[in-house]
Amino acid sequence: MSTPRTDRLTLTRPDDWHLHLRDGAMLRDVLPDTARQMARAIVMPNLVPPVVTTADAAAYRERILAALPEGARFEPLMTLYLTEATAPDEILRAKDSGFVHGVKLYPANATTNSHAGVADLRRVHAVLEAMQRVDLPLLVHGEVTDPDVDVFDREAVFIERHLDRLVRDFPALRVVLEHVTTREGAQFVLDAPATVAGTLTAHHLLLNRNAIFAGGLRPHHYCLPVLKRELHRQALVKAAISGGGKFFLGTDSAPHPKHAKESSCGCAGIYTAHAAIELYAEAFDAAGALDRLEGFASHNGPDFYRLPRNTDRIELVREATPVPPVMSKGGQELVPLRAGETVAWRLAG
Ligand code: NCD
Ligand code: ZN
Ligand code: ZN
Repeated sequence: MSTPRTDRLTLTRPDDWHLHLRDGAMLRDVLPDTARQMARAIVMPNLVPPVVTTADAAAYRERILAALPEGARFEPLMTLYLTEATAPDEILRAKDSGFVHGVKLYPANATTNSHAGVADLRRVHAVLEAMQRVDLPLLVHGEVTDPDVDVFDREAVFIERHLDRLVRDFPALRVVLEHVTTREGAQFVLDAPATVAGTLTAHHLLLNRNAIFAGGLRPHHYCLPVLKRELHRQALVKAAISGGGKFFLGTDSAPHPKHAKESSCGCAGIYTAHAAIELYAEAFDAAGALDRLEGFASHNGPDFYRLPRNTDRIELVREATPVPPVMSKGGQELVPLRAGETVAWRLAG
């Protein structure tokens, strides 16, 4: 007997556990896309200059709230950008604030605006101890920056050289391996203690690295960690639908203007906030696991972050929905994922 096709899907309103909102005019124009579907988001701190103190995070949070469209209900969950100068005291202030929910580790120069990141993990041990003590999660961009390591291997090598050890050295520290892109990454999260979780992007569930080279060089499919081979994509899908609670939705929606991507040295980042939950629905549907979408999108994240689950619901309708070829964001052109094509679902209402 074949399962009947689901054409309407209601689920607890999701949250986005990894989001780039930027600042200023870009913030104003990308925020409504997320606020339309997500109740909350973990907001990444890689602004220029980065969000390094609780006071920076408070000010950024106010700018986000001020940029919300009239009547929108959305809660920004703030993060601090870990540097080698971060003081353990800052962690106590962050925890006490009630609005900082994690501290982000960028290996120095691993990705967009990561120059102020950490070059040597030994220099942040006291800070990690403080985080472990007050129970503030560490969010990790898990890639080595060693130019001798192949760009496609940088996540697996980061786990081998750094993350495995870090998780053993700080057994009570909650750790999120952000935007897991490899079979090794997914397996690491699955095998690790319950303190360790992972976010998965919609684009890494839907695309493999061929998308970067389909008929020519496709800068709008370039992100970090870079898209991987099909076997990795399949491992990520398996992890997403596994139902064990260790993986949750983190779009890593990362707006860059069109001109900055269509360049001789294009920026890393894919914009998916315009159709985030719809794209995840496609990925889960393709795996025959739409029944697992709610756990992944709406339950596992708040459970890990020890926040209440949302109580209202959203409805998705199966209906091919066009995506504009280009969007206007922050006074600039931006090319979203699926530009000029369609997504298979529409958010009702
Ligand atoms: C992100 C960005 O543009 O801020 N880019 C990306 O390719 N994912 C940074 C990040 O999350 O690594
Ligand atoms: Zn990252
Ligand atoms: Zn990111």
